[in-house]
Amino acid sequence: MKQTLDGTVALVTGASSGIGAATASALAAQGAAVALAARRADRLESLAGDIRAAGGTALVIESDVTDEQQATGAVARTVAELGRLDTLINNAGVMLLGPVVDAPLSEWQRMVDLNVLGLLYCAHAALPHLLRAAQDGPRQVADMVNISSVAGRAARAGNGVYSLTKFGVGAFSESLRQEVAKRYVRVSLVEPGATATELATHNRPEVLESIRSQFGQRMEAADIADAVAYIVTRPRHVAVNEMLIRPTEQER
Ligand SMILES: NC(=O)c1ccc[n+]([C@@H]2O[C@H](COP(=O)([O-])OP(=O)(O)OC[C@H]3O[C@@H](n4cnc5c(N)ncnc54)[C@H](OP(=O)(O)O)[C@@H]3O)[C@@H](O)[C@H]2O)c1
Repeated sequence: MKQTLDGTVALVTGASSGIGAATASALAAQGAAVALAARRADRLESLAGDIRAAGGTALVIESDVTDEQQATGAVARTVAELGRLDTLINNAGVMLLGPVVDAPLSEWQRMVDLNVLGLLYCAHAALPHLLRAAQDGPRQVADMVNISSVAGRAARAGNGVYSLTKFGVGAFSESLRQEVAKRYVRVSLVEPGATATELATHNRPEVLESIRSQFGQRMEAADIADAVAYIVTRPRHVAVNEMLIRPTEQER
């Protein structure tokens, strides 16, 4: 049966767990060949095995996208081995919460390095390929989906630098959207609320304890993957610019 993304190639960063892994599976199910980028190669291999077993095409790219050369290399390998690039899902991210006062600067550096610079390196390397795909690709349209957060819409005490990075992703996405819209590269921003993934587990124990007490209803990674798949399968003349998705019970 023909699928909407047949003949297209997608690169998903942070594909070794959570939203990235679910998104890669969802795009593969729509017919895209998927390149899976992250640092944990064993997790990527396992996901690639599942995708292939379901009849799809998957390429494992072990890479740390905070390193400019590795980020650029991930895009280059995708194009070299899968032949093109129609869709970039800029998903890799880290969320290290807690008060600004006395926060370890290393946590801020990790967030800026990955959520901002890693995303920018991938976007920069991918854009020439996305512009080409929009001209000569099977769908005559290309997509960059940047994963932000509810924290990219509203800053709260305790998420200062995480919010800073996600507000930045929003600003960059809207500026780039305007720049490339007429060339049929769609730039979309997805802002998830609480989702059950490994994201919170990287926090210091004392921070984790205080976040845990705030945990309410959470979505599944597949719920966000659904949204991303919806965005990139729209017809050529429809661009979903922004999507804010919360668990039903999440108020703020
Ligand atoms: N979960 C939520 O509630 C929530 C809410 C709003 C927004 N988000 C956003 O959703 C995105 C995905 O997060 P998630 O919730 O799915 O968390 P996750 O399960 O922790 O996934 C994060 C992914 O990023 C990858 N990653 C981390 N550092 C990397 C690096 N240097 N280079 C390449 N990949 C790297 C991780 O793989 P490796 O460790 O193998 O490299 C992993 O695959 C993030 O941008 C996050 O901010 C999540």
